[in-house]
Amino acid sequence: MRQIPFGRPMIGPEERQAVMDVLQGPVLVHGPRAKEFEARFAAYTGSPAAASASSCTAAMHLAYFDLGLGPGDEVIVPAQTHCATAHVVEFCGARPVFADAELATGNLDLDLVEGLITPRTRAIAVVHFLGLPVDMDRVTDLAARHELFVLEDCALALGARYKGVHAGLLGDAGAFSFYPVKHMTTAEGGMLVSRHPEMVERVQRKKAFGVDRTPGERKIPGVYDVTMLGYNYRMNEIQAAMGLEQLKRMDGFLEKRRQNAEMLEAGLREIEELTLFAPEPEGVVGSRYCLSAMLAPARAQKRYELVKRLNEQGVGTSVYYPRPVPHLSYYKGKYGFAQGSFPKAAAISGRSIALPVGPHLGPKDMAYIVETMKQALAEVH
Ligand SMILES: Cc1ncc(COP(=O)(O)O)c(C=O)c1O
Repeated sequence: MRQIPFGRPMIGPEERQAVMDVLQGPVLVHGPRAKEFEARFAAYTGSPAAASASSCTAAMHLAYFDLGLGPGDEVIVPAQTHCATAHVVEFCGARPVFADAELATGNLDLDLVEGLITPRTRAIAVVHFLGLPVDMDRVTDLAARHELFVLEDCALALGARYKGVHAGLLGDAGAFSFYPVKHMTTAEGGMLVSRHPEMVERVQRKKAFGVDRTPGERKIPGVYDVTMLGYNYRMNEIQAAMGLEQLKRMDGFLEKRRQNAEMLEAGLREIEELTLFAPEPEGVVGSRYCLSAMLAPARAQKRYELVKRLNEQGVGTSVYYPRPVPHLSYYKGKYGFAQGSFPKAAAISGRSIALPVGPHLGPKDMAYIVETMKQALAEVH
């Protein structure tokens, strides 16, 4: 039987050799590889600068920390996202104000945002859902009118472009994830980009305890000052070595994802019981993280039965995301969101099945997913 994992890290001999090279040397942190990875990632995305971090969550936290977000502040956060997008607001003692999704794309419903802005609002977080860029012209217009900081959560959006500009460079800061099933991986890892290079420079200090000099910049070993508060959110040399190799393969990874997604999309569009998200609008290039298929409401209770059949036939699946963030126990308990709130995000969470399109797969896998889905739908009543 064909085995189609939802995601698989694309680790080859180059990545293995690069990791071994690090382990054979004395420098595991604060070395040249993290610096080179930052420079190459900045060039790849077109950012004036980039700061590597231990995860996307760390990178987003650093952006808000640098902004000085704190108690009494509010941030507009999409309800349909990973909990990390909201957690980083909570880390700062500020309040996430959730906005429902639009059903056609899963992205933040921008029609709702203006009504959620109060004098306490400091920022808007946008998440390019499954790699499809949000309408950033509207976001930046809103942000300019209300003097808000815009953080782009690009965890699923490496390779995504809006009117030619890479995701992460349209707002004030963008954070990427290199978690294993993402577009590229460093095992764990993240990167902050920004069109404000001075912000990236500050974040470089704030991710490393707030020290004023890295070991390489110290005239006397071990002697430094701490000029600001900072975390320990650095990326190490092993991660950076992997990242450098993965980045060389990114264009190929993206091309494979696009081919797979287009083929899967064409096959699934023929299935009447499934709804797919709207195609990319003119001028927008998505990064095709996965393909999410929505079941008709009457079929929604059968979702996990369908998933079970797909999995039994070797088709890996996932759910993006299992519940709207405000419905997760921590947020529901803290803020008391009502049942039935965020209905569109809840519909996406409750009725969709995420299917794989990663570069570990090819056309035969896509054809097999379509046939297996048709068969499973016919069998589950
Ligand atoms: C939208 C979104 N943001 C943030 C994250 C967290 O990324 P990391 O694990 O690199 O912190 C994820 C992880 O899947 C995500 O999907």
